[in-house]
Amino acid sequence: MATSTSSVVTLHINGEKFTLPVDHRTTLLDALRERLTLTGTKKGCDQGQCGACTVLLDGRRTVSCLQLAVAAEGREITTIEGVADGDRLHPVQQAFLDLDGFQCGYCTPGQICSAIGVLREHAEGRPSAVTDDIRPEAGPPPLTPEEIRERMSGNLCRCGAYVAIVDAVAKAAADPRATGAATVSEEDVA
Ligand code: FES
Ligand code: FES
Repeated sequence: MATSTSSVVTLHINGEKFTLPVDHRTTLLDALRERLTLTGTKKGCDQGQCGACTVLLDGRRTVSCLQLAVAAEGREITTIEGVADGDRLHPVQQAFLDLDGFQCGYCTPGQICSAIGVLREHAEGRPSAVTDDIRPEAGPPPLTPEEIRERMSGNLCRCGAYVAIVDAVAKAAADPRATGAATVSEEDVA
């Protein structure tokens, strides 16, 4: 039931609809974890600093601890539970497994969701702070380790698995399934 401080919202998560009453102050992260038991999304800092809570909103990565659940109504939310295709892992998940892109795993769901967003942004030609040629006609820059580190810099890893994480993102970038759209050529992946 809606009140002056709460509303009934319908959240579209991983292809399913969930209708629930939420206090207007409830973050998307808390709605996912505490109300819907989608605990794959992790809480680290709860203030937008660590990236552990990263999910995809309409295909764009966002930190769910800074997103109100009511503001996510009507948008397509993808969490780590929804990135695989049935039993087939997403290419980014597979690359993290293949290359040991984790240690304790606490940051991993956020790293993987963020990496999926990174590959999509890169395929669309979006520049980063370290991109040399930012002209739209220049297209996607080579996805060098420096580009990957910069684009993934919002996701911290207390275990320091960064080297393998960068390798995993580079490996996934060569898989056409990773973006679902444009393909990154092998030559673009340094
Ligand atoms: S828990 Fe959201 S950024 Fe750290
Ligand atoms: S794998 Fe432990 S925090 Fe990243």
